[in-house]
Amino acid sequence: MELQDAIKNRRSIKKFKHDMHIDEAAVHQAIIDAADAPNHGMREPWRTVYVPKHKLGEMSREISRYAFPREPEKQQSHYDAVTNLGGFVALIMKCDARQREENENYLAVGAFAQNLLLLLYEQGIGTCWKTPQYIFNPKVRQSFGVLPDERLVGFIYLTDLKEEDKMKKCERKNRGLITNYI
Ligand SMILES: Cc1cc2nc3c(=O)[nH]c(=O)nc-3n(C[C@H](O)[C@H](O)[C@H](O)COP(=O)(O)O)c2cc1C
Repeated sequence: MELQDAIKNRRSIKKFKHDMHIDEAAVHQAIIDAADAPNHGMREPWRTVYVPKHKLGEMSREISRYAFPREPEKQQSHYDAVTNLGGFVALIMKCDARQREENENYLAVGAFAQNLLLLLYEQGIGTCWKTPQYIFNPKVRQSFGVLPDERLVGFIYLTDLKEEDKMKKCERKNRGLITNYI
């Protein structure tokens, strides 16, 4: 697949209504290859926690208890969606007490994440990058083993591409991309 096609055609898959299965070896390889992303000082400020298919239910029960306490319906709909996924990746960034380095680390993780989404798409694996409010919940962080000097940046839901056609492209409207320097 041409890089240009992958950039143009990759979509965030947001329907999780059927049971999905993915090639786990391809996911592991994509994570390794995504780490060729640029990163200042070669700090490589990223790591992931991979949740395989058979652990999704356990993980959902644990985190939705913290994310939606006293909301059993939300817990159940989280469980129903997440257990249909092919797998799940928690994306973790290494923090840095220095302002500039912290900023660079955050940007580098974004580059890593986009590499990962494109590499997975090339392998026929769909994705949706999720940043729910509960990534900041200390108990959710703890569930994924996030250390005090790390930030839980988000989750990548791993799907098949059966729903891809139904995911209409959100056309980009920003027409101010390029201003000539005067
Ligand atoms: C940093 C980041 C966080 C996102 N968080 C969420 C999220 O919490 N929930 C969600 O449904 N989509 C999330 N998305 C996906 C975007 O909504 C999606 O990329 C956007 O709608 C454009 O669609 P496309 O990826 O198919 O081009 C996130 C994307 C990015 C880059």
